[in-house]
Amino acid sequence: MSKYLFIESSVRGEASASGQLAARLKAQVQAAGHVVATRDVGADPLPPLDGALLGALFSAADGRSAEQQAQADRVTALIDELQAADTVVIATGMYNFGVPAQLKTWFDYVLQAGRTFRYTADGPVGLVTGKHAIILAATGGIYSSGPAAAADFMVPHVKQMLAFIGITDVTVVRAEGLALGEASAQAGMAQALSVVETLQAA
Ligand SMILES: Cc1cc2nc3c(=O)[nH]c(=O)nc-3n(C[C@H](O)[C@H](O)[C@H](O)COP(=O)(O)O)c2cc1C
Repeated sequence: MSKYLFIESSVRGEASASGQLAARLKAQVQAAGHVVATRDVGADPLPPLDGALLGALFSAADGRSAEQQAQADRVTALIDELQAADTVVIATGMYNFGVPAQLKTWFDYVLQAGRTFRYTADGPVGLVTGKHAIILAATGGIYSSGPAAAADFMVPHVKQMLAFIGITDVTVVRAEGLALGEASAQAGMAQALSVVETLQAA
């Protein structure tokens, strides 16, 4: 039995393509007897990183206000949730060439020096090790090849943020061409769902 954490980030509710991929994978791993946790930051967004949150994180624990402590506790809970998972599934659509702001905010919360990475004389070292990640990426255009590939700031960004905290074993599933007409959308989803079905539950 393995623990999966699904981070979902679409703001499109039931219409979400990345959400549909996540739902399929979730059903699959649950059927295989694995434990699934979901954090849907699209439906239930975290407050964006701001000065108050940074102030709370950089204050000594005994000097925090009640509000600052609540903010710090939320970060701790998110990091604990991440650390508890064996496999982290990031479900994301491309919004203006990158990840939804809500997903970036989740990374802003969990990328914490001393907790999920640390700086050393030889550079940063990730502390979230021994995990596999699956990126379920939905895009209106086609970025896996062709002229638009250089404009994919979503998948490389997610991979970089994961690698920074130590998660380098990453599988990417793309549903592409979803805005290129009905036939393209159907083919893009069918292709991605067929890849999801091949993912072995670890
Ligand atoms: C605000 C917004 C911005 C988008 N920007 C892009 C884009 O830059 N490139 C692209 O290929 N598709 C873009 N799309 C299309 C989405 O990537 C596509 O609808 C995808 O299914 C979104 O994922 P979701 O359905 O899980 O929310 C955009 C869609 C929205 C709503």
